[in-house]
Amino acid sequence: MVSRVIPVEPFDLVIFGGTGDLARRKILPALFRRFCAGQMPEEARIIGAARSEHDTDEYKAMVRDAIVEFVGEDDAQADALAAFVDRTDYVTIDARGTDGWVELAGKMREGCVRAFYFSVAPALFGDLAERIHVNGMATDQSRIVVEKPFGHDLATARALNDTLAQHFDEGQIYRIDHYLGKETVQNLMAIRFGNMLFEPLWNSQYVDHIQITVAETVGVGGRGEYYDKAGAMRDMVQNHLMQLLCLIAMEPPAKFDPDAVRDEKLKVIRALDEVEPHHIVRGQYEALDGEHPGYREAAGDPRSSTESYIALKTHISNWRWAGTPFYLRTGKRLVARSSVISVVFKDAPHSIFGPEAGRHANVLSIRLQPNEGITLQVTIKEPGPGGMRLVDVPLDMTFAEALGPESDDPPDAYERLIMDVIRGNQTLFMRGDEVEAAWAWADPMIAGWKARGEVPKPYESGSVGPDQADQLLRRDGRVWRGIKP
Ligand SMILES: NC(=O)c1ccc[n+]([C@@H]2O[C@H](COP(=O)([O-])OP(=O)(O)OC[C@H]3O[C@@H](n4cnc5c(N)ncnc54)[C@H](OP(=O)(O)O)[C@@H]3O)[C@@H](O)[C@H]2O)c1
Repeated sequence: MVSRVIPVEPFDLVIFGGTGDLARRKILPALFRRFCAGQMPEEARIIGAARSEHDTDEYKAMVRDAIVEFVGEDDAQADALAAFVDRTDYVTIDARGTDGWVELAGKMREGCVRAFYFSVAPALFGDLAERIHVNGMATDQSRIVVEKPFGHDLATARALNDTLAQHFDEGQIYRIDHYLGKETVQNLMAIRFGNMLFEPLWNSQYVDHIQITVAETVGVGGRGEYYDKAGAMRDMVQNHLMQLLCLIAMEPPAKFDPDAVRDEKLKVIRALDEVEPHHIVRGQYEALDGEHPGYREAAGDPRSSTESYIALKTHISNWRWAGTPFYLRTGKRLVARSSVISVVFKDAPHSIFGPEAGRHANVLSIRLQPNEGITLQVTIKEPGPGGMRLVDVPLDMTFAEALGPESDDPPDAYERLIMDVIRGNQTLFMRGDEVEAAWAWADPMIAGWKARGEVPKPYESGSVGPDQADQLLRRDGRVWRGIKP
């Protein structure tokens, strides 16, 4: 495979929160990798902006350290690193005050793309949008990138959309969900809409059910205070899992363009049934040993009833999917880090080989992490004598094998998404109405378990989650696919 690097036009990228964790771990390393790939033009500039006082040289040193730490010293070759750091600048700014805004406006160049990345606490998003506007930086060429979480519920998401809309058009607002930047997620669309093979089977007549699993091995770590106000539903399901569900379930858009794709995703969210309380399992991880604290300890609240795990069953009420359950689960401190979508097809209607040969459903598994790739489980005859014994084998389309070693290391989601911002392509970003519809689906569930005073079920760290999640599928005569690294 030969990768094609399409250079983007000159840009000024301002990273509000340019000294923060996300900027250091993800945004700056992603930009550096694109720089090394030759995608950033000579005139591209990156301006860090945050409240703490630093002169430009101090910031450049901070950028250099971040690249060495998160890209790796070997990969961050000295010449490239020096040239990249040379493009960075810094402004001390207060999102809620007046400090730094005139200086920042003075650094903006006319006639090139301006991207403002809001890598700060969500409470500051509205302040930033207003000040960019008031200080004359919101041109037609300007766009803002808004990090998650986008709202805490429907009311706050709507208020934030309204605030941003006072200063920017929808076409200038890029709500980032890094899951959409993953190579396999785009491949999902290529597989569905670039092949004749799957689409005729992609409906309730042939698909028994769909499972979406996003399992993490990490706990809440240092994010305990934030996470305890959110929980798995707000942190993962309403955004990441919902986006994956949309891409799996949506109708073919007429074109691969931002609004055509997002219109179809929105229709899926609006067709989702309200989830019944007995179709939701919430869990909370327990301490593993002396080393790893349990959820409540990590969250700093011994009586916390926030879920670190959730499994649920939902349906999409439309012609394509009526009757096909979608099972979603996500959790922290699980047995392996693994994000997989599994499309489980129905059994063949009749086995000509007799009951002793066994029945085996085809399963199409789309792995998002680790080892991005696609596996199709097919049934064949077990080799050798002994009669017609059937066995499942995976047709494995690990990208590295099929497409060459370059594909084994696809660009990080942030690399692709930031370059899409510069190009002005919103296909992989959430539109305001999508986010609101997703909250409208999630809010009643959250309100329901709060009103009932439900406490999450404990589960062992390093397990696959609470037993009740297994029962959710067992009641339907189904089982979860294994969580494998
Ligand atoms: N970290 C992640 O992995 C991650 C993942 C997904 C989404 N996010 C989201 O990304 C955003 C940033 O997260 P983070 O982890 O990078 O947070 P962080 O490490 O706490 O960094 C926050 C940044 O905001 C700056 N800041 C704070 N108050 C400010 C003000 N009044 N004016 C200007 N700058 C101000 C801080 O600069 P000073 O310290 O210099 O004031 C710092 O650079 C949040 O919305 C978070 O939810 C983060």
